[in-house]
Amino acid sequence: MNSTYHEIYADWKNDPQGFWAKAAEEIDWYSKWDKVFDETLGAYGRWFPGATCNTCYNCVDRHVENGRADQLAFIYDSPITDSKRTYTYGKLLVEVQALAAVLKEKGVGKGDVVLIYMPMVPEAAISMLACARLGAIHSVVFGGFAPAELAVRINDSSPKVIISASCGIEPNRVIAYKPLLDEAIEISDEKPLANLILQREKQVCDLIDGRDFDYKTETDRTRSASTQIACEPVAATDPLYVLYTSGTTGEPKGVVRDNGGHMVALKWSMKAIYDVNPGEVFWAASDVGWVVGHSYIVYGPLLQGSTSILYEGKPVGTPDAGAFWRVIEEHNVVALFTAPTAFRAIKRDDPEAKLLANYDLSKFRTLFLAGERADPDTIQWAEKHLGVPVIDHWWQTETGWTIAGNPIGLGKLPVKYGSSCVPMPGYDVQILSDEGHPLEAGELGNVVLKLPMPPCCFPTLWNAEERFNQAYLEEFPGYYKTADAGYVDEDGYLFIMARTDDIINVAGHRLSTGGMEEIVAAHKDVAECAVIGIEDKLKGQLPCGFYILNAGVERSEEEIEKEIIALVREKIGAVAAFKLVMSVPRLPKTRSGKILRGTMQKIADGIEWKMPATIDDPEILDEITEVLKAKGIIKN
Ligand code: COA
Ligand code: AMP
Repeated sequence: MNSTYHEIYADWKNDPQGFWAKAAEEIDWYSKWDKVFDETLGAYGRWFPGATCNTCYNCVDRHVENGRADQLAFIYDSPITDSKRTYTYGKLLVEVQALAAVLKEKGVGKGDVVLIYMPMVPEAAISMLACARLGAIHSVVFGGFAPAELAVRINDSSPKVIISASCGIEPNRVIAYKPLLDEAIEISDEKPLANLILQREKQVCDLIDGRDFDYKTETDRTRSASTQIACEPVAATDPLYVLYTSGTTGEPKGVVRDNGGHMVALKWSMKAIYDVNPGEVFWAASDVGWVVGHSYIVYGPLLQGSTSILYEGKPVGTPDAGAFWRVIEEHNVVALFTAPTAFRAIKRDDPEAKLLANYDLSKFRTLFLAGERADPDTIQWAEKHLGVPVIDHWWQTETGWTIAGNPIGLGKLPVKYGSSCVPMPGYDVQILSDEGHPLEAGELGNVVLKLPMPPCCFPTLWNAEERFNQAYLEEFPGYYKTADAGYVDEDGYLFIMARTDDIINVAGHRLSTGGMEEIVAAHKDVAECAVIGIEDKLKGQLPCGFYILNAGVERSEEEIEKEIIALVREKIGAVAAFKLVMSVPRLPKTRSGKILRGTMQKIADGIEWKMPATIDDPEILDEITEVLKAKGIIKN
């Protein structure tokens, strides 16, 4: 099929409001908007002001009303617990109502925040939908974060109720969530009124009388009573959720997602980008704690009336590198969305993809990769072995859906390796110099989006309008700064090359090196430090710390390094994957005192680098090189 992409993109450009008004017809509204887009509202305008809607209604109830009650909404496949469960749309509605009834009893209503700290279990998705039903705002925190990170999110979002589980299960250990939750609440200034705890067989936990409630007991009660909870109409511009993501300091940014624009864009994307139809099975192998999980494990597939897979396992080791093929075959998956790192792990364990021979993937149509740069090697390996299109697409927590991609539902465009393809309707992507001038095709610069951004993109940061303006809008007036660097070629293909801030991407997880530096610097024996992201074959990048010892410290470096590593794990969590740290005599700086992290990174990655003109003492780079050689990070 020839691609209609260019026509559709031109349609949007000619009449952006008409384009989104048409897309909005796919959503059921209680009342229509006053204006499709009002540029006088918010920092850069708001989509669908005046309209009222409910996201849970559009994800669940309307499918039940329209004949999909017996179709599967979720398939929970958990090799890690050796269990599977399915939810039809009808059953999902019952479960969501039962939980919404419990939340309501605990005092949750429209506009209240509910924090969800859970592993990849169906109850996590049910919790999100129950909040949406009540018009409450959920804030999901990834299970790999430590109590201190959880506490920051509790303080910032002031949840009325927290929903959690007794434990999470990783291949190498069981993680007791409850002590982490208790500690986080203990150190937070804000205290929830109640916690709902899902007891998991693998490890149950103690509940504190009057504060902790058993998820199952509570929902069994409201389910038996058949308590009906109607969907609460909310404004299209009301928040559906807050999702914290790494910022340029230790303080995470609370990305706010609204209800109306979110539904419109995600529904459009399911067919146009992913080419998934109602009734078909879509699988985003991510975690509900990340934006990919929000948009494409829960909301996108359900808005489309598709079936979504909730996978509690890994690409390798649960039990082997054939796990993804097994899930695709067993559940008739037509499209898979994951991070390139997952495929690098599979390729590492089964380089010839021999395990594929055991499975029938004839229904599988497309592999989508995002979350980090997809290296051409991995794409070509997947293409060769799977024999389906492998599509890289680029987006951010802030946008909630694809900025640039290859929209398969509109007809596939030619693939260029290393490029995340072309901008989606709604996005005017431009490349600007640091001074804000437009750059020519092929020139590397700041990737920015001309305002306004399309529906679904965040209108602000939770409780931090000033930070929103300062972090995203001020540097390039009239544009949103993505903080990615890249270029557009003559054919309009976008190449995303690096971040322009301190964010690194570890196994598709977005982390702030600035946040890590704050922790390393707090170690009593550390005078100064720097953390950079260095290249890693499996995870894309890994954090690597350098520290200068305080004068007079006599303790062994090995001991100090163990403590620093433990400190980062304790404060941020295992997900930081912070395992490399080394003592250096000095750190390279500019004459104005800025640490030359970029140059250190190039040296560590063994790529060509130029002596920065502003460097204070060039010899320090030799010292760093020697330390990196001694640690085996660069070859002699
Ligand atoms: N709860 C608690 N801990 C978690 C966790 C969770 N939900 N998820 C990961 N962790 C822990 C891991 O157990 C690991 O701990 P360890 O240091 O004790 O081994 C640590 O966090 C780092 O995890 P991760 O970066 O995922 O590395 P890994 O070695 O366990 O797995 C991959 C590597 C590539 C298999 C894995 O990253 C993966 O499956 N990635 C898929 C891509 C993905 O999900 N991306 C998300 C955005 S789309
Ligand atoms: P997150 O908000 O966690 O989704 O991370 C967003 C960041 O991940 C982007 O700003 C990019 O730096 C990076 N990223 C995501 N997808 C891609 C991609 N397809 N190619 C290159 N970088 C990507």
